[in-house]
Amino acid sequence: MRTIHVKTASASYPVHVGSNILPHLASHLRKLTPKTSSRIFVLTSPQIWALWGRQLASAFPKEHLPTVLFLPVGEQYKRLSNVERLAIELSQAGADRSSLLVAFGGGIIGDLGGFLAAIFMRGIPYVQVPTTLLAQVDSSVGGKTGVNLTTGKNLIGSFHHPLAVFADVETLETLPQRELRAGLFESIKSGIIRDPKLFRFLEQNHESILAGEPAALQRVVSASVAMKAEVVGIDERESGLRMILNFGHTLGHAIEAVTGYKKLLHGEAIAWGMLAAVRVSRSRHLLPEKDAARMEQLIYAYGPLPHFRARIPDLLDAAGRDKKNRAGARRFVLTSGIGNAVVVEDVTEAELISALESILREAVR
Ligand SMILES: NC(=O)c1ccc[n+]([C@@H]2O[C@H](COP(=O)([O-])OP(=O)(O)OC[C@H]3O[C@@H](n4cnc5c(N)ncnc54)[C@H](O)[C@@H]3O)[C@@H](O)[C@H]2O)c1
Ligand SMILES: [Zn+2]
Repeated sequence: MRTIHVKTASASYPVHVGSNILPHLASHLRKLTPKTSSRIFVLTSPQIWALWGRQLASAFPKEHLPTVLFLPVGEQYKRLSNVERLAIELSQAGADRSSLLVAFGGGIIGDLGGFLAAIFMRGIPYVQVPTTLLAQVDSSVGGKTGVNLTTGKNLIGSFHHPLAVFADVETLETLPQRELRAGLFESIKSGIIRDPKLFRFLEQNHESILAGEPAALQRVVSASVAMKAEVVGIDERESGLRMILNFGHTLGHAIEAVTGYKKLLHGEAIAWGMLAAVRVSRSRHLLPEKDAARMEQLIYAYGPLPHFRARIPDLLDAAGRDKKNRAGARRFVLTSGIGNAVVVEDVTEAELISALESILREAVR
Protein backbone atom coordinates (compact mmCIF):
# COMPACT_ATOMS: atom_id res chain seq x y z
CA MET A 1 0.00 0.00 0.00
CA ARG A 2 1.30 3.45 -0.84
CA THR A 3 0.11 6.51 1.06
CA ILE A 4 0.04 9.99 -0.42
CA HIS A 5 -0.67 12.95 1.83
CA VAL A 6 -2.95 15.74 0.72
CA LYS A 7 -2.19 18.97 2.55
CA THR A 8 -4.26 22.02 1.75
CA ALA A 9 -4.96 25.23 3.64
CA SER A 10 -8.10 23.70 5.12
CA ALA A 11 -7.40 20.00 5.44
CA SER A 12 -4.81 17.31 5.59
CA TYR A 13 -5.51 13.65 4.93
CA PRO A 14 -3.99 10.45 3.60
CA VAL A 15 -4.86 8.73 0.33
CA HIS A 16 -4.05 5.03 0.57
CA VAL A 17 -3.56 3.22 -2.73
CA GLY A 18 -3.05 -0.52 -2.92
CA SER A 19 -4.45 -4.04 -3.15
CA ASN A 20 -6.45 -5.98 -0.61
CA ILE A 21 -7.53 -2.87 1.31
CA LEU A 22 -11.28 -3.59 1.44
CA PRO A 23 -11.07 -6.64 3.71
CA HIS A 24 -9.21 -4.53 6.28
CA LEU A 25 -11.31 -1.40 5.96
CA ALA A 26 -13.25 -1.96 9.18
CA SER A 27 -10.22 -1.43 11.40
CA HIS A 28 -9.02 1.58 9.39
CA LEU A 29 -12.44 3.19 9.72
CA ARG A 30 -12.69 2.49 13.42
CA LYS A 31 -9.49 4.49 13.94
CA LEU A 32 -11.06 7.43 12.11
CA THR A 33 -14.40 7.68 13.91
CA PRO A 34 -14.62 10.46 16.48
CA LYS A 35 -15.96 8.16 19.22
CA THR A 36 -15.87 4.41 19.78
CA SER A 37 -19.66 4.55 19.81
CA SER A 38 -19.77 6.36 16.42
CA ARG A 39 -22.00 4.79 13.83
CA ILE A 40 -20.72 4.03 10.34
CA PHE A 41 -22.93 4.53 7.27
CA VAL A 42 -22.01 3.32 3.81
CA LEU A 43 -23.42 5.03 0.72
CA THR A 44 -23.13 2.82 -2.34
CA SER A 45 -25.08 1.53 -5.35
CA PRO A 46 -26.89 -1.83 -5.41
CA GLN A 47 -24.48 -3.03 -8.14
CA ILE A 48 -21.30 -2.17 -6.29
CA TRP A 49 -22.68 -3.58 -3.06
CA ALA A 50 -23.52 -6.83 -4.85
CA LEU A 51 -19.98 -7.06 -6.23
CA TRP A 52 -17.89 -5.87 -3.31
CA GLY A 53 -20.15 -5.38 -0.28
CA ARG A 54 -19.38 -8.75 1.23
CA GLN A 55 -15.65 -7.98 1.20
CA LEU A 56 -16.16 -4.58 2.75
CA ALA A 57 -18.52 -5.88 5.44
CA SER A 58 -16.48 -9.01 6.22
CA ALA A 59 -14.22 -7.46 8.82
CA PHE A 60 -16.91 -5.63 10.78
CA PRO A 61 -18.01 -7.33 13.99
CA LYS A 62 -21.56 -8.70 13.57
CA GLU A 63 -23.02 -6.38 16.20
CA HIS A 64 -21.45 -3.33 14.53
CA LEU A 65 -22.25 -3.81 10.87
CA PRO A 66 -22.44 -0.51 8.99
CA THR A 67 -25.84 0.77 7.88
CA VAL A 68 -26.00 0.74 4.09
CA LEU A 69 -27.73 3.45 2.04
CA PHE A 70 -28.25 3.18 -1.71
CA LEU A 71 -28.12 5.49 -4.70
CA PRO A 72 -29.11 4.08 -8.10
CA VAL A 73 -26.49 4.11 -10.85
CA GLY A 74 -26.50 7.02 -13.29
CA GLU A 75 -25.68 10.71 -13.58
CA GLN A 76 -29.42 11.50 -13.50
CA TYR A 77 -29.50 10.48 -9.83
CA LYS A 78 -26.78 12.93 -8.80
CA ARG A 79 -29.45 15.38 -7.72
CA LEU A 80 -30.44 17.42 -4.69
CA SER A 81 -33.64 15.39 -4.30
CA ASN A 82 -31.52 12.32 -3.55
CA VAL A 83 -29.40 14.26 -1.07
CA GLU A 84 -32.59 15.12 0.79
CA ARG A 85 -33.90 11.57 0.65
CA LEU A 86 -30.60 10.18 1.95
CA ALA A 87 -30.39 12.83 4.69
CA ILE A 88 -33.83 11.72 5.85
CA GLU A 89 -32.69 8.11 5.80
CA LEU A 90 -29.59 9.04 7.80
CA SER A 91 -31.61 10.83 10.45
CA GLN A 92 -34.20 8.07 10.63
CA ALA A 93 -31.41 5.57 11.14
CA GLY A 94 -30.05 7.62 14.02
CA ALA A 95 -27.03 9.31 12.43
CA ASP A 96 -25.53 12.16 14.40
CA ARG A 97 -22.54 14.46 14.11
CA SER A 98 -20.17 11.79 15.27
CA SER A 99 -21.29 9.40 12.54
CA LEU A 100 -18.94 8.55 9.70
CA LEU A 101 -20.17 8.33 6.14
CA VAL A 102 -18.32 6.10 3.71
CA ALA A 103 -18.79 6.90 0.01
CA PHE A 104 -18.23 3.52 -1.64
CA GLY A 105 -18.44 3.66 -5.43
CA GLY A 106 -17.57 5.71 -8.48
CA GLY A 107 -17.39 9.46 -8.84
CA ILE A 108 -21.15 9.92 -8.65
CA ILE A 109 -21.38 8.23 -5.25
CA GLY A 110 -18.28 10.14 -4.14
CA ASP A 111 -19.53 13.56 -5.24
CA LEU A 112 -23.03 13.14 -3.87
CA GLY A 113 -21.85 11.36 -0.71
CA GLY A 114 -19.29 14.07 -0.02
CA PHE A 115 -21.93 16.74 -0.46
CA LEU A 116 -24.35 14.88 1.81
CA ALA A 117 -21.60 14.71 4.45
CA ALA A 118 -20.85 18.42 3.93
CA ILE A 119 -24.38 19.52 4.76
CA PHE A 120 -25.92 16.82 6.98
CA MET A 121 -26.14 18.42 10.44
CA ARG A 122 -23.85 21.16 9.02
CA GLY A 123 -21.15 18.65 8.25
CA ILE A 124 -20.13 15.17 9.33
CA PRO A 125 -16.88 13.34 8.63
CA TYR A 126 -16.64 11.08 5.62
CA VAL A 127 -14.26 8.74 3.87
CA GLN A 128 -13.93 8.02 0.16
CA VAL A 129 -13.60 4.43 -1.02
CA PRO A 130 -13.50 4.93 -4.81
CA THR A 131 -14.19 1.91 -7.03
CA THR A 132 -13.74 3.34 -10.54
CA LEU A 133 -10.41 4.35 -11.99
CA LEU A 134 -11.74 7.85 -12.58
CA ALA A 135 -12.76 8.18 -8.94
CA GLN A 136 -9.43 6.76 -7.74
CA VAL A 137 -7.23 9.02 -9.85
CA ASP A 138 -9.36 12.11 -9.81
CA SER A 139 -12.71 12.71 -8.16
CA SER A 140 -12.01 11.27 -4.69
CA VAL A 141 -9.11 13.67 -4.16
CA GLY A 142 -9.38 17.41 -3.83
CA GLY A 143 -12.51 17.99 -1.77
CA LYS A 144 -14.92 19.05 -4.50
CA THR A 145 -18.36 17.63 -3.81
CA GLY A 146 -21.72 18.35 -5.34
CA VAL A 147 -24.72 17.50 -7.45
CA ASN A 148 -26.16 18.49 -10.83
CA LEU A 149 -28.93 20.91 -11.73
CA THR A 150 -31.08 20.47 -14.81
CA THR A 151 -29.26 23.56 -16.11
CA GLY A 152 -25.77 22.13 -15.73
CA LYS A 153 -23.46 19.63 -14.07
CA ASN A 154 -22.03 20.15 -10.59
CA LEU A 155 -23.70 23.54 -10.19
CA ILE A 156 -24.48 22.94 -6.51
CA GLY A 157 -21.75 21.85 -4.20
CA SER A 158 -19.21 22.56 -1.57
CA PHE A 159 -15.59 21.94 -0.69
CA HIS A 160 -15.54 19.19 1.91
CA HIS A 161 -12.46 17.04 2.25
CA PRO A 162 -12.68 13.42 3.36
CA LEU A 163 -10.84 12.19 6.48
CA ALA A 164 -9.09 9.69 4.26
CA VAL A 165 -9.29 7.98 0.88
CA PHE A 166 -8.86 4.22 0.44
CA ALA A 167 -8.32 3.26 -3.19
CA ASP A 168 -8.24 -0.52 -3.54
CA VAL A 169 -7.14 -1.23 -7.12
CA GLU A 170 -8.52 -4.77 -6.87
CA THR A 171 -12.05 -3.37 -7.06
CA LEU A 172 -11.17 -2.33 -10.63
CA GLU A 173 -11.22 -6.02 -11.60
CA THR A 174 -14.97 -5.83 -12.19
CA LEU A 175 -14.94 -2.43 -13.85
CA PRO A 176 -16.02 -2.58 -17.50
CA GLN A 177 -13.03 -2.15 -19.82
CA ARG A 178 -14.50 1.00 -21.33
CA GLU A 179 -14.76 2.64 -17.88
CA LEU A 180 -11.15 1.67 -17.17
CA ARG A 181 -9.94 3.26 -20.41
CA ALA A 182 -12.00 6.37 -19.75
CA GLY A 183 -10.36 6.83 -16.36
CA LEU A 184 -6.92 6.28 -17.85
CA PHE A 185 -7.35 9.38 -20.00
CA GLU A 186 -7.31 11.42 -16.77
CA SER A 187 -3.98 9.78 -15.90
CA ILE A 188 -2.67 10.60 -19.36
CA LYS A 189 -3.70 14.16 -18.59
CA SER A 190 -1.71 14.02 -15.34
CA GLY A 191 1.34 12.85 -17.27
CA ILE A 192 1.01 15.53 -19.93
CA ILE A 193 0.54 18.44 -17.55
CA ARG A 194 3.00 17.57 -14.79
CA ASP A 195 4.52 14.10 -14.67
CA PRO A 196 6.83 12.96 -17.50
CA LYS A 197 7.65 9.75 -15.58
CA LEU A 198 4.00 8.77 -15.40
CA PHE A 199 3.68 9.62 -19.10
CA ARG A 200 6.54 7.23 -19.89
CA PHE A 201 5.10 4.54 -17.65
CA LEU A 202 1.78 4.79 -19.48
CA GLU A 203 3.62 4.53 -22.81
CA GLN A 204 5.69 1.53 -21.79
CA ASN A 205 3.18 -0.50 -19.78
CA HIS A 206 0.13 -0.12 -21.90
CA GLU A 207 -0.62 -3.86 -22.02
CA SER A 208 -0.36 -4.64 -18.33
CA ILE A 209 -2.33 -1.52 -17.46
CA LEU A 210 -5.18 -2.36 -19.84
CA ALA A 211 -5.09 -5.97 -18.63
CA GLY A 212 -5.79 -4.59 -15.17
CA GLU A 213 -2.63 -5.86 -13.48
CA PRO A 214 -2.87 -4.60 -9.91
CA ALA A 215 0.79 -3.59 -9.62
CA ALA A 216 0.63 -1.53 -12.81
CA LEU A 217 -2.67 0.06 -11.79
CA GLN A 218 -1.33 0.87 -8.35
CA ARG A 219 1.58 2.73 -9.95
CA VAL A 220 -0.77 4.68 -12.26
CA VAL A 221 -3.25 5.54 -9.51
CA SER A 222 -0.64 6.59 -6.97
CA ALA A 223 1.25 8.78 -9.45
CA SER A 224 -1.98 10.44 -10.61
CA VAL A 225 -3.08 11.04 -7.03
CA ALA A 226 0.33 12.42 -6.08
CA MET A 227 0.15 14.88 -8.97
CA LYS A 228 -3.36 16.03 -8.04
CA ALA A 229 -2.49 16.21 -4.32
CA GLU A 230 0.46 18.44 -5.07
CA VAL A 231 -1.55 20.79 -7.27
CA VAL A 232 -4.51 20.96 -4.88
CA GLY A 233 -2.09 21.51 -1.99
CA ILE A 234 -0.73 24.60 -3.70
CA ASP A 235 -4.09 25.91 -4.92
CA GLU A 236 -7.09 24.43 -3.13
CA ARG A 237 -9.79 26.70 -4.54
CA GLU A 238 -8.73 26.90 -8.17
CA SER A 239 -7.49 30.46 -8.20
CA GLY A 240 -4.31 29.60 -10.08
CA LEU A 241 -2.36 26.39 -10.54
CA ARG A 242 -5.41 24.09 -10.11
CA MET A 243 -6.58 25.42 -13.48
CA ILE A 244 -4.03 23.15 -15.17
CA LEU A 245 -6.15 20.14 -14.14
CA ASN A 246 -8.62 21.39 -16.72
CA PHE A 247 -6.31 20.46 -19.58
CA GLY A 248 -8.57 18.99 -22.29
CA HIS A 249 -11.64 19.91 -20.26
CA THR A 250 -12.85 23.16 -21.84
CA LEU A 251 -13.55 21.48 -25.17
CA GLY A 252 -14.12 18.09 -23.53
CA HIS A 253 -16.96 19.49 -21.44
CA ALA A 254 -18.36 21.17 -24.53
CA ILE A 255 -18.33 17.85 -26.41
CA GLU A 256 -20.08 16.14 -23.49
CA ALA A 257 -22.73 18.85 -23.32
CA VAL A 258 -23.37 19.00 -27.07
CA THR A 259 -23.69 15.22 -27.31
CA GLY A 260 -26.15 15.24 -24.41
CA TYR A 261 -23.85 13.36 -21.98
CA LYS A 262 -24.90 10.15 -23.70
CA LYS A 263 -22.51 9.26 -26.44
CA LEU A 264 -19.20 9.60 -24.59
CA LEU A 265 -17.96 8.87 -21.10
CA HIS A 266 -16.36 11.86 -19.38
CA GLY A 267 -12.82 10.57 -19.89
CA GLU A 268 -13.48 9.89 -23.58
CA ALA A 269 -14.73 13.43 -24.15
CA ILE A 270 -11.63 14.69 -22.32
CA ALA A 271 -9.46 12.59 -24.62
CA TRP A 272 -10.95 14.37 -27.65
CA GLY A 273 -10.52 17.67 -25.79
CA MET A 274 -6.87 16.87 -25.11
CA LEU A 275 -6.26 16.07 -28.78
CA ALA A 276 -7.70 19.48 -29.64
CA ALA A 277 -5.57 21.20 -26.97
CA VAL A 278 -2.45 19.41 -28.26
CA ARG A 279 -3.23 20.66 -31.77
CA VAL A 280 -3.71 24.27 -30.62
CA SER A 281 -0.41 24.02 -28.71
CA ARG A 282 1.41 22.58 -31.71
CA SER A 283 0.08 25.04 -34.23
CA ARG A 284 1.21 27.91 -31.98
CA HIS A 285 4.71 26.36 -32.02
CA LEU A 286 4.45 26.19 -28.26
CA LEU A 287 4.70 22.42 -28.35
CA PRO A 288 7.52 20.62 -30.20
CA GLU A 289 6.30 18.32 -32.97
CA LYS A 290 7.94 15.30 -31.33
CA ASP A 291 6.10 15.75 -28.03
CA ALA A 292 2.81 16.39 -29.81
CA ALA A 293 3.20 13.11 -31.69
CA ARG A 294 3.91 11.17 -28.48
CA MET A 295 0.89 12.72 -26.77
CA GLU A 296 -1.42 11.84 -29.63
CA GLN A 297 -0.01 8.31 -29.83
CA LEU A 298 -0.54 7.78 -26.12
CA ILE A 299 -4.13 8.97 -26.28
CA TYR A 300 -4.87 6.69 -29.24
CA ALA A 301 -3.13 3.77 -27.51
CA TYR A 302 -5.77 3.87 -24.76
CA GLY A 303 -8.63 4.20 -27.23
CA PRO A 304 -10.71 3.53 -29.20
CA LEU A 305 -12.39 6.89 -28.86
CA PRO A 306 -16.08 6.69 -29.68
CA HIS A 307 -17.13 8.75 -32.68
CA PHE A 308 -19.54 11.66 -32.35
CA ARG A 309 -21.12 14.36 -34.45
CA ALA A 310 -21.36 18.00 -33.44
CA ARG A 311 -21.63 21.41 -35.01
CA ILE A 312 -18.70 23.74 -34.39
CA PRO A 313 -20.88 26.74 -33.42
CA ASP A 314 -22.62 24.57 -30.79
CA LEU A 315 -19.27 23.43 -29.41
CA LEU A 316 -17.94 27.00 -29.23
CA ASP A 317 -21.13 28.12 -27.58
CA ALA A 318 -20.94 25.34 -24.98
CA ALA A 319 -17.24 26.05 -24.36
CA GLY A 320 -18.05 29.72 -23.77
CA ARG A 321 -20.65 28.75 -21.19
CA ASP A 322 -18.26 26.50 -19.27
CA LYS A 323 -18.42 27.67 -15.67
CA LYS A 324 -14.65 27.63 -15.41
CA ASN A 325 -14.31 30.11 -18.24
CA ARG A 326 -14.18 33.34 -16.34
CA ALA A 327 -15.97 36.44 -17.55
CA GLY A 328 -15.35 36.28 -21.24
CA ALA A 329 -11.65 35.50 -20.98
CA ARG A 330 -11.00 32.47 -23.10
CA ARG A 331 -8.91 30.81 -20.46
CA PHE A 332 -7.39 27.72 -21.91
CA VAL A 333 -4.83 25.19 -20.80
CA LEU A 334 -2.17 24.35 -23.36
CA THR A 335 0.99 22.30 -23.14
CA SER A 336 4.56 23.21 -24.00
CA GLY A 337 5.99 19.72 -23.64
CA ILE A 338 5.54 16.42 -21.81
CA GLY A 339 5.04 17.34 -18.16
CA ASN A 340 4.31 21.01 -18.78
CA ALA A 341 1.03 22.89 -18.82
CA VAL A 342 0.59 26.55 -19.70
CA VAL A 343 -2.54 28.55 -18.91
CA VAL A 344 -3.23 31.22 -21.53
CA GLU A 345 -5.98 33.76 -21.99
CA ASP A 346 -5.49 34.62 -25.63
CA VAL A 347 -6.68 31.58 -27.54
CA THR A 348 -8.57 32.89 -30.52
CA GLU A 349 -11.80 31.56 -31.92
CA ALA A 350 -9.96 30.80 -35.15
CA GLU A 351 -7.50 28.56 -33.28
CA LEU A 352 -10.34 26.70 -31.58
CA ILE A 353 -12.23 26.28 -34.84
CA SER A 354 -9.22 24.87 -36.57
CA ALA A 355 -8.50 22.40 -33.73
CA LEU A 356 -12.16 21.39 -33.60
CA GLU A 357 -12.29 20.89 -37.36
CA SER A 358 -9.29 18.65 -37.14
CA ILE A 359 -10.71 16.41 -34.38
CA LEU A 360 -14.16 16.34 -35.99
CA ARG A 361 -12.63 14.96 -39.18
CA GLU A 362 -11.66 11.92 -37.09
CA ALA A 363 -14.70 11.89 -34.83
CA VAL A 364 -17.39 11.65 -37.51
CA ARG A 365 -15.70 8.92 -39.47
N1 LIG B 1 -15.21 15.90 -7.48
C1 LIG B 1 -14.35 15.96 -8.48
O1 LIG B 1 -13.30 16.56 -8.37
C2 LIG B 1 -14.68 15.23 -9.75
C3 LIG B 1 -13.70 15.07 -10.73
C4 LIG B 1 -14.02 14.34 -11.87
C5 LIG B 1 -15.28 13.80 -12.03
N2 LIG B 1 -16.22 13.97 -11.05
C6 LIG B 1 -17.56 13.38 -11.18
O2 LIG B 1 -17.44 11.97 -11.19
C7 LIG B 1 -18.58 11.42 -11.84
C8 LIG B 1 -18.17 10.30 -12.75
O3 LIG B 1 -17.53 9.30 -11.99
P1 LIG B 1 -17.31 7.82 -12.60
O4 LIG B 1 -16.72 7.90 -13.92
O5 LIG B 1 -16.62 7.07 -11.52
O6 LIG B 1 -18.80 7.32 -12.84
P2 LIG B 1 -19.84 6.41 -12.04
O7 LIG B 1 -19.80 6.72 -10.60
O8 LIG B 1 -21.13 6.51 -12.75
O9 LIG B 1 -19.28 4.95 -12.28
C9 LIG B 1 -19.22 4.46 -13.60
C10 LIG B 1 -19.89 3.09 -13.75
O10 LIG B 1 -19.08 2.10 -13.16
C11 LIG B 1 -19.84 1.29 -12.26
N3 LIG B 1 -18.90 0.83 -11.24
C12 LIG B 1 -18.30 1.55 -10.28
N4 LIG B 1 -17.38 0.83 -9.64
C13 LIG B 1 -17.42 -0.41 -10.20
C14 LIG B 1 -16.68 -1.60 -9.98
N5 LIG B 1 -15.68 -1.67 -9.10
N6 LIG B 1 -16.98 -2.69 -10.74
C15 LIG B 1 -17.95 -2.61 -11.68
N7 LIG B 1 -18.65 -1.51 -11.96
C16 LIG B 1 -18.38 -0.42 -11.21
C17 LIG B 1 -20.92 2.20 -11.79
O11 LIG B 1 -22.01 1.48 -11.31
C18 LIG B 1 -21.23 2.97 -13.07
O12 LIG B 1 -22.07 2.21 -13.90
C19 LIG B 1 -19.27 12.56 -12.57
O13 LIG B 1 -20.48 12.87 -11.91
C20 LIG B 1 -18.27 13.71 -12.44
O14 LIG B 1 -18.90 14.97 -12.38
C21 LIG B 1 -15.93 14.68 -9.93
ZN1 LIG C 1 -12.10 15.17 -15.79
